[in-house]
Amino acid sequence: MPITFIPEKKIFKLDAGSSSCVLRVWDEGYLLGLYYAASVPDTNFEGYELREWASSFSPRNEILGERYFSPDIVPLEYSGFGTGDFRKSAVAVRNADGNDATDFRYVTHRISEGKPAPAGMPATFARSGEDCSTLEIDMEDKTTGMKLTLVYTVFEDLPVITRFARLTNASDRPADIEKIASASVQLNAMDFDFIHLYGRWGAERNLVRAPLAHGHQSISSTRGSSSHYHNPFAALARRGADEDHGEVYGFNLIYSGSFDITADVDYYETTRVNMGINPDGFLWHLDPGETFETPEAVTVYSSEGLGGMSRIFHRLYLNHLIRGRYAREKRPLLINSWEAAYFDFDTDKLVSFAERAKEAGIEMLVMDDGWFSRRNDDKSSLGDWWVNEDKLPGGLGVLIDRVNALGLKFGIWYEPEMISPDSDLYRAHPDWCIHVPNRANSIARHQYVIDMSRADVRENIWEQMNAVLSKYKIDYVKWDFNRNLTEAGSALLSAPHGEEIFHRFVLGTYELMGRLVDTYPDILLENCSGGGGRFDPGMLYFSPQIWASDNTDAVERLAIQFGTSLCYPASSMGAHVSMSRRTGFETKGNVAMWGTFGYELDPNRLSEKDLEIVKKQVAEYHEYYDLIHYGDLYRITDPWDNAYRCAWEFVSEDRREALYTQVNMRYYHCPTLFVRFRGLDPRKIYTLESTGEKYSGAFLMNAGLNLSDYPRGTGESFKLHFVS
Ligand code: DGJ
Repeated sequence: MPITFIPEKKIFKLDAGSSSCVLRVWDEGYLLGLYYAASVPDTNFEGYELREWASSFSPRNEILGERYFSPDIVPLEYSGFGTGDFRKSAVAVRNADGNDATDFRYVTHRISEGKPAPAGMPATFARSGEDCSTLEIDMEDKTTGMKLTLVYTVFEDLPVITRFARLTNASDRPADIEKIASASVQLNAMDFDFIHLYGRWGAERNLVRAPLAHGHQSISSTRGSSSHYHNPFAALARRGADEDHGEVYGFNLIYSGSFDITADVDYYETTRVNMGINPDGFLWHLDPGETFETPEAVTVYSSEGLGGMSRIFHRLYLNHLIRGRYAREKRPLLINSWEAAYFDFDTDKLVSFAERAKEAGIEMLVMDDGWFSRRNDDKSSLGDWWVNEDKLPGGLGVLIDRVNALGLKFGIWYEPEMISPDSDLYRAHPDWCIHVPNRANSIARHQYVIDMSRADVRENIWEQMNAVLSKYKIDYVKWDFNRNLTEAGSALLSAPHGEEIFHRFVLGTYELMGRLVDTYPDILLENCSGGGGRFDPGMLYFSPQIWASDNTDAVERLAIQFGTSLCYPASSMGAHVSMSRRTGFETKGNVAMWGTFGYELDPNRLSEKDLEIVKKQVAEYHEYYDLIHYGDLYRITDPWDNAYRCAWEFVSEDRREALYTQVNMRYYHCPTLFVRFRGLDPRKIYTLESTGEKYSGAFLMNAGLNLSDYPRGTGESFKLHFVS
C-alpha cells in the first residue's frame, strides 16, 4: 500500500511514485503537514520537527502548555480561520452565532484501495481497483459540531496526489461556508519561483515566472469560468530549477469556475499553497445534516524540472482523467467552417468544403456557429436550437446525408449555456438567464448567460439538443462558451442561498455536459470558450480536446501551445491549420501537429500546390498520431527565452521513436546550431529517417546534431523523425 499509518508515531506516509508526503497527528489532534518532496524511506520524522513552535505574538495552545505550540507557526495541514493561525486559512465556516472561528482537529481515519470522487464534479479516476489508494482523515470542530474529511488519493506509479475536502454540518443549527480549499500544501521553504499561465483572448496561457516573496502571490478567476486570464494551474520551482532539472511542484484544480490558487509565505519563510473555489463570490449554506464537497485538486512533484512536471500531468490526464471512446481511439481529422465562412454559409457551400476536403483525405466536416434559428451574426438566437432552413433547405438531414455520402463524418456547434436577448427562448422566459433583481444585466457579445443552476432550464436546453442529436448522424459537437458571468443571481436562489450561484452554475454545466457524453458516447466532444478561455481539467474530463485559441497564426500559436503544454497533453490542444497571414503551409501544419490537428479554412481556396502539402500533412497526421497523442513531450527551446526558434520533441513511451520539430520565428544563420535531443534510450541505435544516418541515443542526447543546414528562414520549419 502506498499509504501507511504508523500508530506509535501517529504518522501518515503517502508514497506517490518518486515522491513522499508525510502528515502527523500532533497532540490535541492538530494535523501537521511535515514533508512533501522526493521519496524517502524513513518514517522517523521526530528530528524534522521544529523545536520552538511559538513566538510572543503568536497565540499558543494553552493545553499544550510548555510544548510551545502556536498554530500560527506550525505547518497546519488544513488550517481554520480566526483561531490562532493568521496565515491564509484553508477553511472558514460562519456558524449560527454569527462568528467564523473555525478549528478542525483529527478524529479518525480510513485507508482503502481505489478512489472516490467529489459529488457531481469531474475528477481523476483509478483504472483498476489497485492502482491507487485513498486516505480519508476525519476532523471535527468541537465547538460548532462541523465535521470535515480530507481525502487524499495516491497514484502508485506517479508522483501525484489528488485531494478534496468534504464538510458536513453535523450540528443542529445552520451554517455558511465562507471558504473551503480543495488542497492546502505546506512547504518548509520559500526559495521558489511562482510559475503560472496568464493570458487573454487570442494569447492564452503565457508562462510567467517570478520569485516568491514574503506575502501572498495568487492567481484567480472571479468570472464564473476558469477564464482566458489565469489558468487554474500554478507551479513552485525551486530557485534554479529549469526545464530539465530541479524540484518543481505542480498544482492544478479540476474545476471550470471561479478559482483561487494562493502561495502564502510566512514570516518564518515557509510556504503554504491553498487552492480551491474562489472565496470571492462564494457562500454556501449548510442546513443540519447537509454536506458540501470541494472540487478535486492535483499536486505533482517533479525532480526533473518543469519538463518532468509536465510529463507527469500529461500521463495522469491521459490515463486517469480523459474518458470515453476517443481517449484512446483515433479521432477523425476534421475541417471546421468557422474561419472559412463565419456566419455566411448554406448547404451547398458546406458540401463544397466537404468535397474538396475529401480530396485531401480529411475525414469530418464541422459546421460551426450560424446554423440555427435566425443566427446570421452574433446578435441573436442563442437558445433557439432549431435549424435555419433558409440556410440549410430541407434541414440538417439533407446536409448530413450529402456530407456522409462523400464519406465524411459530420459535426455541429452549440453554445448551450447562453441565451440571446433576441431569441424566442428569452422572450418566453426572461427569468431564465443569470440575473439579479432590480439591476440591468451587463451584456457581452450581445448575449446573456443561461441559468444553468436550474434543472428546468437545463431540461429545456437538453430537449432541444437531444431533438437534433437523436435524429441525425452527428459525430462531433463543439461546445462553446463566449462570455463570463455578471450580476450573478438566479430567480430560484434567494437568501441564504443567493451566493451559491457561481458554483451551482458550474455544477449545472457539468450535469448537462455529462448527460451529453453519457447519452452519446460515440460523439467526439470538443470544448471551446472564445478560443481557449475554459481550458481546464474539469472540461477535459468531458471532452478529450479543447480549442486552444482563436488565434490560429502559426507563430503566435507557438507561445500558446508551449504554455498550454505546461499542464495539458498535446492530444487535448485543439489546433488547426488556417489561412492566417504568416508562414507557409508546411509550418502551419508543423505547428498544428503539436495538438489535435485539423483545418479551419475554405479548401476551395487552396492552390493545387497547397493541396498537395495538405495531403502530405494528412499522411503525417496518421503516421505520427500515436507518437504525438500518447508520447512524452520534451520542450527543447521556448518561444520566450529564445527569440529565434521554438523546438519540441515527442518520444514514444517505449523510446523507440522520436519526432523533433523546429520552427524559426526569425531568420537565424548559425553554423554551430547543435541541438541535443532528449528522452531517448542511450543504448538504442536510432536512424534519422530523412538521411538514413544512424546514431546512438547517447550520441543524440550528448553530442547532438548540427542543424545549421536545415531551413533557417523566418517562419520556416522542419521535422526530424528518429526510429530504432
Ligand atoms: C468562438 C470560438 O472560439 C470560435 O472558434 C467560433 O466557434 C466562434 N466562437 C463562433 O461564434
